[in-house]
Amino acid sequence: MSPSAENRYPAGHVLYRRLAKRFPRIVRGEGCWLYDDAGKRYLDASSGALVCNLGHGNAELARAVGEQAARLGYVNGVAFTHDAVEELAAELSALTADGLDKTLFCCNGGDAVEAALKIARQFWAESGRPEKRKIVSLSPSYHGSTLLALSASGRPGYRKQFQDWLVPVCSVPAPYAYRCACRGEWEDCPACSGTALEAALLQEGPETVAAFIAEPVGGASTGASVPRPDYWKTIREICDRHEVLFIADEILVGAGRTGTWSALEPYAVAPDFQIFGKGIAGGYAPLSAMVTSRRILDVLAEGTGAPLHNQTFSQFPVSCAAGLATIRQLKAHALIERCARMGEILLRRLGELLEHPNVGDVRGRGLLVGVEFVEDKESRKPFHPSLRMAEGFTQAAQAAGLVVWPSSGYTDREDGDLVLIGPPFTISESEISELVRLFRVALDATLETIQNPNGR
Ligand SMILES: Cc1ncc(COP(=O)(O)O)c(C=O)c1O
Repeated sequence: MSPSAENRYPAGHVLYRRLAKRFPRIVRGEGCWLYDDAGKRYLDASSGALVCNLGHGNAELARAVGEQAARLGYVNGVAFTHDAVEELAAELSALTADGLDKTLFCCNGGDAVEAALKIARQFWAESGRPEKRKIVSLSPSYHGSTLLALSASGRPGYRKQFQDWLVPVCSVPAPYAYRCACRGEWEDCPACSGTALEAALLQEGPETVAAFIAEPVGGASTGASVPRPDYWKTIREICDRHEVLFIADEILVGAGRTGTWSALEPYAVAPDFQIFGKGIAGGYAPLSAMVTSRRILDVLAEGTGAPLHNQTFSQFPVSCAAGLATIRQLKAHALIERCARMGEILLRRLGELLEHPNVGDVRGRGLLVGVEFVEDKESRKPFHPSLRMAEGFTQAAQAAGLVVWPSSGYTDREDGDLVLIGPPFTISESEISELVRLFRVALDATLETIQNPNGR
């Protein structure tokens, strides 16, 4: 075996994203399945990192990317515009809430988050109110790994190493009913009702706050927690009352993943900025989108004349073509409606796991389900972080042929273990049955290793 064939650090020349594990080499994908070079197949229950929403080996998306690259690979977005970006922006504005009809395209979620935060600050500065510059966000939450996005992220474990490089951000408890003291049962709970935001703004001084950023349905940090039906209306009213811009980070939960184009849609609330990423181009090119309105941009147009956020690959034609083909395929095959329908089946089937003593909660919307593991169900006590439960489960799942997305260390005490399940929107009922079967196999294997660490 050549050193690189081991597919692990330090063999070969890839800086692998984990330095202590071997990486199966995937050679092909088809629908919900991935195949490695040894012929083993994996049911991709997380669509990669919640990205490949239309499945692997998607010929239509591949063709759209190839055709765009052959026609026009790149132009500088400062000098030119092109068909793909114009058509995609028009499609997006038709899908997004009224008034949100101007889109900047970036390549990663964190880029788009930073663009929104910077433009929010620019808006206030150019409105003659430069003192409005602070950011408020939820905790736990995740908005990206670049330093401003990380500053806004309520994940103590991710921040620790870089604390003195981060800007101060005011933190408000997230609507995370399962881990809230109220257990989701007090109507006037500040975190679950949203009124905690008002208390934080009053303490911070709303005249100093530029924006509030939040995920409309929880992503990895609260494991697909779905806020109450009135939560976002309350948030919108508080933001309006205190003149704070509301940034909805839909990078993980938008683009159809929760059964509607935008996760905010069922709440009938419009943010000031809406950010999409991950699944927006089906995994066929890196793409994120920051959508905002003339209310914000007219101020910049009369001020500096441009958003102060520049990147070489903004409005990248090949990525825009992938985004356009993704939206057209979603519409042509009614795949968001399918996502909502199959999501109900997935939630019900994964809900069967609640019989298990170490499955504390199963929740979600559309084809996004969070399964939270606990050591003790009654007290909701998490496993000790040293057991690395979610990571161990993910490895056991991969060994069994199932891909899930783990999250751990998201509570105040840096413990907590959950996995996100988010298969492609094309998943069938029999594939859901197989997913649940493999989940049980992986859970048994993980608990056996925890209970009997030297046994294998
Ligand atoms: C809600 C949310 N925002 C932002 C990001 C950052 O996106 P990216 O990793 O593409 O920069 C993520 C990534 O997981 C996310 O889940």
